[in-house]
Amino acid sequence: MQTPLLLFLATLQLFQINTITCNGDKDLLNITTVLVFGDSSVDTGNNNYLTTFVKANHNPYGQNFPGQVPTGRFSDGKLVPDLLVSTLGIKETIPPFLQPNLSRFELISGVNFASAGAGYDDFTGSIFDVIPLSQQSGYLRQYFEKLVSLVGEEEARIIISRALALISAGTNDFLFNYYTMPIRELHFLQELYSLGLRIMVVTGLPPIGCLPFQRALAREVINGCLQNQNQDSILYNDKLKKLLQNTQKDLQGSRLVYSDIYKPIMKMIDNPQKYGFVETRRGCCGTGIFLEAGPLCTATASMCSNSSKYLFFDSVHPGQEAYQFIFKYSYQTLVQRYLKNSTEEDYHIHDPK
Ligand SMILES: *[C@@H]1O[C@H](CO)[C@@H](O)[C@H](O)[C@H]1NC(C)=O
Ligand SMILES: *[C@@H]1O[C@H](CO)[C@@H](O)[C@H](O)[C@H]1NC(C)=O
Ligand SMILES: *[C@@H]1O[C@H](CO)[C@@H](O)[C@H](O)[C@H]1NC(C)=O
Ligand SMILES: *[C@@H]1O[C@H](CO)[C@@H](O)[C@H](O)[C@H]1NC(C)=O
Repeated sequence: MQTPLLLFLATLQLFQINTITCNGDKDLLNITTVLVFGDSSVDTGNNNYLTTFVKANHNPYGQNFPGQVPTGRFSDGKLVPDLLVSTLGIKETIPPFLQPNLSRFELISGVNFASAGAGYDDFTGSIFDVIPLSQQSGYLRQYFEKLVSLVGEEEARIIISRALALISAGTNDFLFNYYTMPIRELHFLQELYSLGLRIMVVTGLPPIGCLPFQRALAREVINGCLQNQNQDSILYNDKLKKLLQNTQKDLQGSRLVYSDIYKPIMKMIDNPQKYGFVETRRGCCGTGIFLEAGPLCTATASMCSNSSKYLFFDSVHPGQEAYQFIFKYSYQTLVQRYLKNSTEEDYHIHDPK
């Protein structure tokens, strides 16, 4: 009889996300540590500390971030991991693990290992000289050692076992190295499990054929999204969902939650006005029809007049407004699937905006 009550509470909470952010949902999910793995969709600045050219620590990135500073986030503002930790009532933003001098509080409440340009396959990361996922789990070991020195081994193990891991990657493998998916994801999840993580939220692919970059390559900016590429995303996401269902059974005590970003992005593309957008086909930065992202989206690029009205900030990455909606949508998934221990889609998601 506990489940319906929990779900009822969860639903209540969902309607309050907009108003209650100071308390957060600490008690609802009871999560106090968040660890992030993945690519530019979630990297909050690790690449700033690498020699790679795949960086976003320059204008115009971050123009709507608190203080209007470019932080290395590939967007104009906060990313989903930031919105997650603030909604959970943990902290406002999540720092990159490579940032020097992380405080005790930052380490215990969670850090980010993601690296823009990374993929599940080492080859994908090596193209850009960034941190592939295999190496991100290596950093998790280093992180564990730091925790041990702060709180002792027993407490460190408990922190890891209760932490929520957010994993958002795959787009780069898809674009540069399609054929190794999704078996690599399985290996990665097993690796995190062996290092003590139990709660893992795994993001699927966006509609690849709607990314301005892909449309520009195919000279299809004006017409619709590239349907064959979107079909590939859907196929991949179906495989990933099944993989998570099966893997959760194999990894005792684990909770693997599939997080859908395909649907919320399609909702915004299919019905831009409803979400306050005037442009969903091209990025705000630069001409928006060529390949402006990272080193090609710079302070000298021409900009759209109001990035809040564009779904994409550059030719690959959503802007803060879009991330807000993507987050609210996937947070409902997280709450419901997490509380039900289910990877099945047997509930209705309300449009949160
Ligand atoms: C949260 O988790 C801790 C540790 O497992 C437990 O002691 C506490 O009772 C939990 N709180 C809630 C509100 O579930
Ligand atoms: C940060 O770390 C460096 C090297 O470990 C040290 O020299 C510096 O004093 C630290 N800064 C702060 C603000 O703690
Ligand atoms: C979900 O799984 C966790 C750990 O496996 C367990 O403690 C919890 O009671 C389960 N919740 C439900 C609603 O089945
Ligand atoms: C940009 O658009 C948003 C949403 O429509 C609006 O709230 C904001 O005031 C606009 N900013 C500027 C500088 O026009």
